[in-house]
Amino acid sequence: MEKGEASLRSRLYDPVAIHAAGSFLEDAMQRFWLNFLRLFFRLLYNEFAWSYDLVAWLVSLGRWKAWGRTALHHCRGTQVLELGHGPGHLLVTLRKRGYDPVGVDLSVNMGRRARRRLDSAGLSVPLVRARAQTLPFRDEYFDTVVATFPTEFVIDHRTLREVTRTLRADGRLVVALGARFEGEGLIASFLTWLYRVTGQAAPCPSAFEPSLREVGLSPRAVCERVGQTTILLVVAEKD
Ligand SMILES: C[S@@+](CC[C@H](N)C(=O)[O-])C[C@H]1O[C@@H](n2cnc3c(N)ncnc32)[C@H](O)[C@@H]1O
Repeated sequence: MEKGEASLRSRLYDPVAIHAAGSFLEDAMQRFWLNFLRLFFRLLYNEFAWSYDLVAWLVSLGRWKAWGRTALHHCRGTQVLELGHGPGHLLVTLRKRGYDPVGVDLSVNMGRRARRRLDSAGLSVPLVRARAQTLPFRDEYFDTVVATFPTEFVIDHRTLREVTRTLRADGRLVVALGARFEGEGLIASFLTWLYRVTGQAAPCPSAFEPSLREVGLSPRAVCERVGQTTILLVVAEKD
């Protein structure tokens, strides 16, 4: 056997090399899947924002708006900042219930959709296109900062520092982290699986706790029932 051939064979049949090749493939697949998901959600919040409500309706079996409204049970005061307002359903409800909400979202298309929704309801709510990580508001302005089903911007330390800065001394952050299907049916099992593989499963609220405490927020986990689903929320008071 030629020297080069022997070394090739030993590389091909060496269990360590096979394992390394396997994990390389696994890593590559995982990277591909993560990049695909990133692209999918970027498109859903931007170019395909028009399809967001339909997608949200389908993956919640029609309960998306009711899921978001669970956050309202924990809002206090009147000045409420909604981070990542999306198509603006919660802003409409907040305004109708007498709050003075302000909406922030990074997506121009979501801003347009929310504006249209508010206009057609005859409601006036300031909408700001900004990153949650750099909020263009003065210190200690809001009674409540709320975010429903936010993307990872909500666990970014810069966002949490901005939340603490813009909250009043006795203000609070309310985050609807995600939903769990309690039923055993085929659709509930499918959606649970779908949420898991797309990284949308509700994170454990306790995983969020150290980051919140670090910026001076004292969190507690809250569960709310909506039909056969449970919404996991975190309510964090400014220390
Ligand atoms: C999953 S959607 C949730 C929308 C809405 N809250 C709801 O319950 O349907 C996330 C929203 O956050 C916005 N977003 C993503 N990153 C952001 C950031 N860094 N700052 C502000 N908004 C952001 C997206 O444009 C999108 O509208």
